[in-house]
Amino acid sequence: MPQLEISDLITAVDPHSGRRLPVRRAEVMRQLLDSGDDRAAEIVATLPTDQDGVLDPDAVDRLLIRVHTELQRLSEELRIGERMAGLLGPLFTAIRSTVRQPGPYRLVDVGCGLGYVVRWLASTGALGVDVELVGVDLDAALVGEAGRLARAEGLGCRFVHGNAFDLPEAATVYVSTGVLHHFRGPDLAAFFRAQAASPALAFCHFDIATTRLAPLGAWVFHRARMRHPLGRHDGVVSARRAHNDRTLLHAADVPGIRALLYEPRGSVNPFCTTLRPVVGVRPHLEAPLRLALGRAARRLVGPEQPAGDVR
Ligand SMILES: C[S@@+](CC[C@H](N)C(=O)[O-])C[C@H]1O[C@@H](n2cnc3c(N)ncnc32)[C@H](O)[C@@H]1O
Repeated sequence: MPQLEISDLITAVDPHSGRRLPVRRAEVMRQLLDSGDDRAAEIVATLPTDQDGVLDPDAVDRLLIRVHTELQRLSEELRIGERMAGLLGPLFTAIRSTVRQPGPYRLVDVGCGLGYVVRWLASTGALGVDVELVGVDLDAALVGEAGRLARAEGLGCRFVHGNAFDLPEAATVYVSTGVLHHFRGPDLAAFFRAQAASPALAFCHFDIATTRLAPLGAWVFHRARMRHPLGRHDGVVSARRAHNDRTLLHAADVPGIRALLYEPRGSVNPFCTTLRPVVGVRPHLEAPLRLALGRAARRLVGPEQPAGDVR
């Protein structure tokens, strides 16, 4: 039975206009009950509605901002900013070393939520002044809050409401955290193909590693760090439906892109693995990226890795 995340079901927007659509609480509960998740239906039953049974959009927005604020604590604890910069620093060194595309460059965080990664990169200046930092999300409330936080912190980055692949200006590099497992079936390959078809030179998407310990680890982390039952529920479901290394490498292996996994399962201690990135570069960038990574380049493996090493 499909595992569903509550946060994916309680908001809806028209994909063309971006306009918010009404969501009926009974319909969300029915989907969750049909998937066998009675506990999730109980959580949704506590959310307020109007007299027609439509979820209160303001209450939903407040709840999602609260849950994502709690989620940010996990990103801080797992040092996602540092780990992203550890790969993106060498990646931009590799891009600068090729003469094909002079700066400035643009990093686009797809599904940035509250924009933790973009704000971290802006506050540390880790990538240099020639990299413009942009966070994009389909959820107006989350991306609005990201912009508010960036202004309060006086940061040099910007946040845009909309589809990351419909921006008027092209990205040089696409990144994301905790987004890949939301794309199921053919949508996962379509996600990578959209980037390959764009002028972007590379992507770097972090998502939950599928070790046998991941669901247990997610339960412990979300229990300890998150207060709202929705956040705890969705955190554990995310770990259960995360894509394994082989699925990600296969989906990212699209024409015009060299797909690589950094620190795949098997190369690292399963107790420590939490999120790991799938990286895609234009083929001419692989050698300069490996050079810029130095010894760490050994942790970057491609789809040709012998079976058993990349699961
Ligand atoms: C689980 S949240 C991750 C938020 C954030 N990256 C974090 O780590 O806290 C996934 C987000 O991706 C957004 N999203 C999915 N596809 C998108 C797209 N094509 N463009 C912009 N946002 C997208 C959704 O609106 C949702 O807010």
